[in-house]
Order: sequence, then C-alpha cells, then structure tokens
Amino acid sequence: MVRAKSWTLKKHFQGHPTQSDFELKTAELPPLKNGEVLLEALFLSVDPYMRLAAKRLKEGEMMMGHQVARVVESKNSTLPTGAIVVAHSGWTTHSISDGKQLEKLPTEWPDTLPLSLALGTVGMPGLTAYFGILDICGVKGGETVLVNAAAGAVGSVVGQIAKLKVSVFFQ
Ligand SMILES: *[C@@H]1O[C@H](CO)[C@@H](O)[C@H](O)[C@H]1NC(C)=O
Repeated sequence: MVRAKSWTLKKHFQGHPTQSDFELKTAELPPLKNGEVLLEALFLSVDPYMRLAAKRLKEGEMMMGHQVARVVESKNSTLPTGAIVVAHSGWTTHSISDGKQLEKLPTEWPDTLPLSLALGTVGMPGLTAYFGILDICGVKGGETVLVNAAAGAVGSVVGQIAKLKVSVFFQ
C-alpha cells in the first residue's frame, strides 16, 4: 500500500501565502488498475500563478501544479517502470495516472541536464518566454527589451533570448 503525502490548501490566502495556510495530509492510494501507472514525484513546481489559481480551490483540496515524476509501478506498457514524465499531479509525493495527461521526457534528454529543468527553462516557463518574446512580441535586432521581474522563471529566460537578439535593459 502506497501512502501519498500531499500539501493541501487549509485556508485561502489573506495577502501573502503563509505556512499556516497549508496542511500536509497523508492518504493511502488504491492498487493500480489496468492502463494506470504509479508516479513518485522528483520535483514539484511552485509558480506565481498558483496564488490566483488557489482561489478556485476549496479549502482542504490539494495544491495544483506540475511535477517531474518517475513511474515506480506500471500497468501500462507505453509507460514502463523508470520512465520520467511531467505530470499535472499537484503538490503530492505519489499519484496514480491513466497516462493520458502525461508528457514523457524526450529520450535524448542528456544525463548532464538536471531533470528539474523540465519544470523551468525546458518546460512551461521556458516555452512561455520563447513564444512570448519571439512570436507575440516579435522582437527584432536593434530594439530594446524591458524585462520586468527578470529574476523569475519566465523573465530570466526572456532575458537570455533577448540578449541573443537585441540589447537588453534589466529591471
Ligand atoms: C497508457 O498510456 C498512454 C499514454 O502513454 C495512454 O494514451 C493510454 O490511454 C494508457 N492506457 C492504456 C490502457 O494503454
């Protein structure tokens, strides 16, 4: 029997989130059904959007979010034990998935590249930066880019892409 530890929203944030707004709960997971896999979290993401998204949670529900996870038990031949995936499982140590919403890491992922980057530069924040600055802003050489919050997960990547393209002004 697998016990999953999950961070839940104990009460909605008043201003900045504090530790007392969260509660760690433990639950036993049921055995796997055919087609399912058991995931063990390796890395969880904590993103600014969660402050807003948490407003839609009921108190007592688990915090949302992506994680890099390893398949530790499998009843799905396309996702064998040991496979590394990005899953939207929330802030939990263990979860069961039917495989449908999982993204496998590319098989050519180099050993030297930390897996946590799948939640950062190589994941959603990196894609947000890439398409934001290149496709939506359509930035061109000779322009000046102002990166607000350039220390953040998206902003730091925007800064690096912009630096390759144009002169940059960091704030
Ligand atoms: C197994 O996982 C794949 C995704 O890799 C998913 O599409 C499929 O529905 C899952 N279930 C079965 C029974 O194969």
